[in-house]
Amino acid sequence: MLTNQDSDSGKRTSLHGHWSSKMAFILAVTGSAVGLGNVWKFPYVAGQNGGGAFVLVYLGCVILIGLPVMMSEILIGRRGRRNPVATMELLGEEEGSSKKWGWLGVLGVVAGIFILSYYSVIAGWTLYYIVKSATGAFQSADAATVSGIFSSFVGNWKIVLFCHTLFMGLTIFVVARGVERGLEQAVRFMVPALLALMVVLLGYSMASGSFGLGVAFMFTPDFDALTWQSVLAAMGQAFFTLSIGMGAIMAYGAYLPEETSITGASGAVVTADTAIAILAGLVIFPLVFANGLEPGEGPGLVFQTLPLALGQLPFGSFFSTLFFVLLSFAAWTSALGLMEPAVAWAVEHHRKTRGQAAFLVGLLIWFIGLASVFSFNLLAETTFLAGTLFDNVDYLTSNIMLPLGGMVIAIFAGWIMCRNSTSEELGGAGTLYKMWRFLARFVAPVGILFVLLQAVGLLDKLGLG
Ligand code: PHE
Repeated sequence: MLTNQDSDSGKRTSLHGHWSSKMAFILAVTGSAVGLGNVWKFPYVAGQNGGGAFVLVYLGCVILIGLPVMMSEILIGRRGRRNPVATMELLGEEEGSSKKWGWLGVLGVVAGIFILSYYSVIAGWTLYYIVKSATGAFQSADAATVSGIFSSFVGNWKIVLFCHTLFMGLTIFVVARGVERGLEQAVRFMVPALLALMVVLLGYSMASGSFGLGVAFMFTPDFDALTWQSVLAAMGQAFFTLSIGMGAIMAYGAYLPEETSITGASGAVVTADTAIAILAGLVIFPLVFANGLEPGEGPGLVFQTLPLALGQLPFGSFFSTLFFVLLSFAAWTSALGLMEPAVAWAVEHHRKTRGQAAFLVGLLIWFIGLASVFSFNLLAETTFLAGTLFDNVDYLTSNIMLPLGGMVIAIFAGWIMCRNSTSEELGGAGTLYKMWRFLARFVAPVGILFVLLQAVGLLDKLGLG
């Protein structure tokens, strides 16, 4: 384990370098937050859970739980300035508690590894769709053709495996290059470009003739149809899309300069991330209805609606290619965040170089990812609990591990860290600080615990539900 490396000013510095500016940090965290979660996952999970009420619960979770947990994670990261495991050990002791808080970091490292294992498989799909789009496979294609392309692709494990391998290779490559050179440059252009393209696509879906149906599906809540499983899915989606609960944002916070406002940065990231998810929904659902498709289609939803719609446009192949290029970039910058806790930990704890750490961690993730590669073909019929192996890894990580991690983070920042430490990091003890502290101490932990217990039916069994 490396010793404290405190700078002359008495403030800790990070071993891995620092972001060059506040904007670079916001871009990096946004790059981590905006990814497949917004464009691929949000529409299909919302579709599976009936739309309106799910979307409302999701928005509520983002504001009341997501935002305070994100702020907690950044402030913990910046105060510790190490990988999430070492940071939690250090702050646990410093705040008069115990080194055992380090286990939270370990949970995050494990969650990141499992999430990336399937994330990389889906990101591989987007790589394949770049090639398919560019070669004109979707130009003027009808719904049956586009669905056929999707199912024969995911049914072919060799190609899916190849794409997964390629994506992991790209991720290892950037992670190995380190904070400044790697992560920062990768995120500079992607987020604004993706946002711009989504706005263009929104124009198209408004003209599709079913815009009203899509909007109604997304925003007309039917609370009677809402189950606790859907509430849990909405909460899990909030954690997943904001990249919180597993130390990714904590690891990024470790590289944040002292003078940057954590509240401002978190607000900006949460707004951008939510806007892109809602935009994605507004693009996808009208297209689903206009083409007589099913909103509850599942993980293939985006891959079956967008190419179909874009294929009807002049220059459709071009737009479709551009869309999947940007989505791959978005996935790539998120994958970096998923790997960062494990890599930073391997570097500091096991004295590996960044390159070695990235390679070893990446290889492990690639291997676990085989379970998801085969979930859509060879093992498609092997289902238990939440569904296929892929469904189970997703359920366990997004709906259980991230919320649990987030709950512990909120408890640590709200109850274990003293007022002085947190107010110093959050820049004063004004109204915003008080609101954050109330949400972090009470609303977030109690809310998360309540939803988890309801979803497993425990409160019902105890007669409290
Ligand atoms: N937030 C990312 C997305 O929406 C996924 C992610 C989760 C990234 C957790 C890092 C940590 O695609």
